[in-house]
Amino acid sequence: MSSPSSPREQWGSKIGFILAAAGSAIGLGNIWKFPYVAGENGGSAFIIIYLICTAVIGLPVLIGEILIGRTTQLNPVGAFRALSKSKFWAGVGGMGVVAGFLILSFYAVIAGWSLGYIYESISGGLFAYADPTKAADHFIELTNNVAWIIGYFAAFMILTMVVVFAGVQKGIERGSKIMMPLLFLLLIFVMIRGITMEGSSEGLKFLLEPDWSHVSGQTVLIALGQAFFTLSMGMGAMLTYGSYMSKKTSIPTSALQIVILDTAIALIAGIAIFTSVFAVGLDANAGPGLIFHTLPAVFTKMPGGEIIGPIFFILLTIAAITSAISLLEVITAYFVDEKGWSRHKAVLVFGGFTFILGIPSALSFNVMSNFTIFGLNFFDLVDYITSNIMLPLGGLLIAVFIAYVWKFDKALVELKNGAENIFNNYPLLITLWQIFIKYFAPVLIFLVLLHSIGLLDFLSL
Ligand code: PFF
Repeated sequence: MSSPSSPREQWGSKIGFILAAAGSAIGLGNIWKFPYVAGENGGSAFIIIYLICTAVIGLPVLIGEILIGRTTQLNPVGAFRALSKSKFWAGVGGMGVVAGFLILSFYAVIAGWSLGYIYESISGGLFAYADPTKAADHFIELTNNVAWIIGYFAAFMILTMVVVFAGVQKGIERGSKIMMPLLFLLLIFVMIRGITMEGSSEGLKFLLEPDWSHVSGQTVLIALGQAFFTLSMGMGAMLTYGSYMSKKTSIPTSALQIVILDTAIALIAGIAIFTSVFAVGLDANAGPGLIFHTLPAVFTKMPGGEIIGPIFFILLTIAAITSAISLLEVITAYFVDEKGWSRHKAVLVFGGFTFILGIPSALSFNVMSNFTIFGLNFFDLVDYITSNIMLPLGGLLIAVFIAYVWKFDKALVELKNGAENIFNNYPLLITLWQIFIKYFAPVLIFLVLLHSIGLLDFLSL
C-alpha cells in the first residue's frame, strides 16, 4: 500500500461529491438501458420490482459502500484490506476492479453509438428517417458497419481517457456541474413531447398497469442488477468516489440525494421512451437499439427538433462520459495506490486493454452476432455476468463485511461524521440502516442469486 506524501485529493465542495457521484450514477443505465430492459421484462411490473430493490437494498448498501471509501480514503482493494487485514476481502475489492474493467468495455461501445448519433443528427441523417421503421433500419445499418461501431467506440474511449488523465477535481467535477442540470431539463422536454403525442396513452398504460404474468425469478434478478448498475454500486466506484469525500459531509443524505436523482431520471426517460414507442407504433421489445429507433421519430415531431436532437445526443454522451470515467477511475486508483503506477501510465494501459476487450462486444452487433455462449452473444454475456451477478454479489459482500467483519461499533463512529444531525434527531433511521445491512440486504440478494441459478426451483416460485 502506498502512503502518498501529499494529502489525497478531495472534492472541491460538498456539492462536488454529489454531482460527481450522480454523474457516475446517471448515464446510459438510466436513458439507454432502463427503458429497453423494462420493455423486455413486462413494463411496470418490472419497474415496481426495480423500485423496491432500489429502496430496500440499493440505498442501504450505497451508504455502506461510500462509508468504506471515506473511512479508508483508499481504492477498493486497499480499503477492504485496511479494515480487515484479510486476503479474502482484498479479493472482493479486486472483483470490483475486474467488474469495472468488464463494464467499461461494453459501456463504451454503446456510448460510441450516442457519439455517432451526434453526427447523424447534425448532418440531418436522422431527419431523413422520420418514418420510425426507417429509423430502426438505419440504426441496424449503422451498427452493422464494423468501421462505424469500432471507430466511435475508440473515439469515446479516448475522450474518457483524456478526462481521467486530467485528474479528479479538475476533470470530473467541473464537467458534471454544468452538464447534469442541462440533461435533466432536456429529458423533461422530451418526456412532455412523448406524453403529448397522439397514441401515447398506450405507452402510459404499459408503464402504469402492471402485468405480473411476465414476472419470474429472472425478472427479479434483472431488476436487482439494474438497480445496482444504475447506481454504480457493488464494484467500488462509489467506494472510490467516497474516498475523496470530506468527513464533514453527511453520507446518508448524499446517498439519498443520489438515489432520488438517479431514479427520477430513469423514470422520466422511461415515460419519454414508452409514450413515444407506442405513439409511433414501434416495438417495446426492441432490445439495446430501442432509444435509437425511437428518439429520431420523436425529434422529427418536435418543434426545434433539428436543434434538440443534436443537443440531446451531446448530453447523453456527456452523461456516459461522467459514468465511464468513474469506471476507469476505479482501475486507475487501484494501480496508482497499490502498485505505485503513475496516473498517466494506468490510464493509458487500461484504456488500451479495455478497448481490446470491447472489440468482441462491438462485433456482437454484426459479424459475431451468431456467436453465442449460454444463448447470449458476447455483449449480452458480459453485461449479464457483471450487472446481474458480479454487482449484486459485490453488494451482498459489502453488507456482510460491514455487519459481520468490520462491525457496527466501528462503522457507526465513521458514519456519524457529518451526519450528527441524523444520529441525534432520527436515531431510528440509523437503526433501520443496521437492520437492512445486517439482515435484509444479504438475505434478499442471496435468495435472488440462488433462485437465478435454479437452486430454488423446488419451491416453484
Ligand atoms: N451507473 C452508470 C449508468 O447508469 O449509466 C453505469 C455504471 C457506472 C455502472 C459506473 C457501474 C459503475 F461503476
